[in-house]
Amino acid sequence: MRIDIITIFPKMFEPILNESILKRAQAKKKVIIKVHNLRDYTKDKHGKVDDYPFGGGPGMVLCAQPIFDAVRKIKRALNVKHKTTKIILLCPQGKTLTQRIAKRLTAYTQLILICGHYEGIDERVRSHLVNEEISIGDYVLTGGELPSMVLVDCITRLIPGVLGDKNSLNFESFEGNLLEHPQYTRPAKFRGKPVPEILLSGNHQKIETWRKDQSLKRTIQRRPELLTRSNRGTIKE
Ligand SMILES: C[S@@+](CC[C@H](N)C(=O)[O-])C[C@H]1O[C@@H](n2cnc3c(N)ncnc32)[C@H](O)[C@@H]1O
Repeated sequence: MRIDIITIFPKMFEPILNESILKRAQAKKKVIIKVHNLRDYTKDKHGKVDDYPFGGGPGMVLCAQPIFDAVRKIKRALNVKHKTTKIILLCPQGKTLTQRIAKRLTAYTQLILICGHYEGIDERVRSHLVNEEISIGDYVLTGGELPSMVLVDCITRLIPGVLGDKNSLNFESFEGNLLEHPQYTRPAKFRGKPVPEILLSGNHQKIETWRKDQSLKRTIQRRPELLTRSNRGTIKE
């Protein structure tokens, strides 16, 4: 998969893309991530990419021209057979990001992410260029850079081969509409607090049952709306 990000603050991405799993995923060529400076695409002779809103009001609005031109050029950069491109605007008015949406997006060969800033972007980008709008929650940030990074991180770890152990995806929160069970590591007793004995038993079947029960209990306590009816009947008190 290739992910292209269009932003007026490309440097914001450097620390995130050059650490840990995102760095390794790129090194292993599981994902290609390119960050593009919107200013490189403007036709304005002073290099401007924003302007005052028509009708008045506070703040600046990102202009349509550099965004349309950037997307056209970036789309052409991926030259593979059976290309599937999705153009996504990060925006507080979009669909709220979920694990399910992230999984769906892994099916594309190219994602182009557009980061708004200031008061937002010219509406013609939204209505004539973008395929999907994604929000990372019901709050307003200064720009689409952090939301883009959240989306890139969330999608990249779902790409096969990115995480070392494929089981780490199977058992984590939101799989099967459940939250993950509690996790413990050494020491077995910390400040007088022991880990649940079952985890030291070596009985894998019992451990698995305990984890499933914990997972269900947690979900009922914290996020009951995630549960389907079929899960509800099976919890042990
Ligand atoms: C200050 S916001 C603009 C908000 C816009 N005036 C509104 O009321 O909907 C600037 C940019 O930050 C990004 N942004 C802010 N909050 C976001 C969120 N919760 N999810 C995704 N993107 C967000 C978007 O790209 C947006 O264009």
